[in-house]
Amino acid sequence: MTHLLILGGTTEANALAKTVAEQGLAATYSYAGRVENPRPQPLPVRVGGFGGVQGLVAYIHHNGISHVIDATHPFASQMSRNAIEACRDAQTPLAALTRPAWRAQSGDDWRHVPDIPAAVDALNVEAQRVFLAVGRMHLEEFSAQPQHHYLLRLVDAPEELPLPNADVVVARGPFAEADDRALMQRHGTQLVVSKNAGGTGARAKLDAARALGLPVLMIDRPVLPERTELSTIAQVLDWLAHSGVNLGV
Ligand SMILES: NC(=O)c1ccc[n+]([C@@H]2O[C@H](COP(=O)([O-])OP(=O)(O)OC[C@H]3O[C@@H](n4cnc5c(N)ncnc54)[C@H](OP(=O)(O)O)[C@@H]3O)[C@@H](O)[C@H]2O)c1
Repeated sequence: MTHLLILGGTTEANALAKTVAEQGLAATYSYAGRVENPRPQPLPVRVGGFGGVQGLVAYIHHNGISHVIDATHPFASQMSRNAIEACRDAQTPLAALTRPAWRAQSGDDWRHVPDIPAAVDALNVEAQRVFLAVGRMHLEEFSAQPQHHYLLRLVDAPEELPLPNADVVVARGPFAEADDRALMQRHGTQLVVSKNAGGTGARAKLDAARALGLPVLMIDRPVLPERTELSTIAQVLDWLAHSGVNLGV
């Protein structure tokens, strides 16, 4: 029996859920539970961590999961590592639906750092107006550089902020270059800090930075153990068909 588990929380996972629902495949969409009102899905949804590798193995067994598709964000590395290990233990086929990383193009002024701690170190400079586009989870770490004035864009309004000087914009992507350019001009942004998330929804800030001649501190992706990586929904459907799923076509 086919029962897909889609590890979600991304635009790609949402698009995959739509296709899977249209195909009439049995599937469950999993959210970590980080945002207050996650987008509704055309599939049954479960919310919250599984309880590490063992918890995910147990979930796979109890729910008769036949295939796992890890469509989480490229920086959700703990979940992705757990999925690799759990699927190996449970002998369940796993594929990742990933977006290609962004690459600098002519006119970009990117400085690469390998991870969040390195980005925090790189901000050990005189006060600037920084668009800190790293999401809510890592703000605490940037409190080590309280001299900057930060612009934050978050999905939910925060109750408390670990940064003394910050403007918060509550918004959910996708974003457009013209809007991000206007936002940065309004806030006098001098530096953009971004994770190399890839995809189209969050690219606008990089295009805006290029248009405004602003530098970008680019946090490179975490490196994961080897796994099957696919970059389109068509490739996921092919992979499913080749691993025994009847797509009815
Ligand atoms: N990191 C980002 O920049 C970013 C950006 C946009 C969206 N997201 C989305 O936000 C979610 C959390 O990201 P993160 O970076 O905090 O992840 P993470 O650090 O890799 O995961 C930490 C723990 O959260 C739980 N978890 C994460 N994703 C889950 C999912 N889809 N379903 C069920 N449990 C999940 C797992 O808990 P257990 O060990 O208990 O199973 C995991 O071990 C993901 O769904 C991701 O796609 C992340």
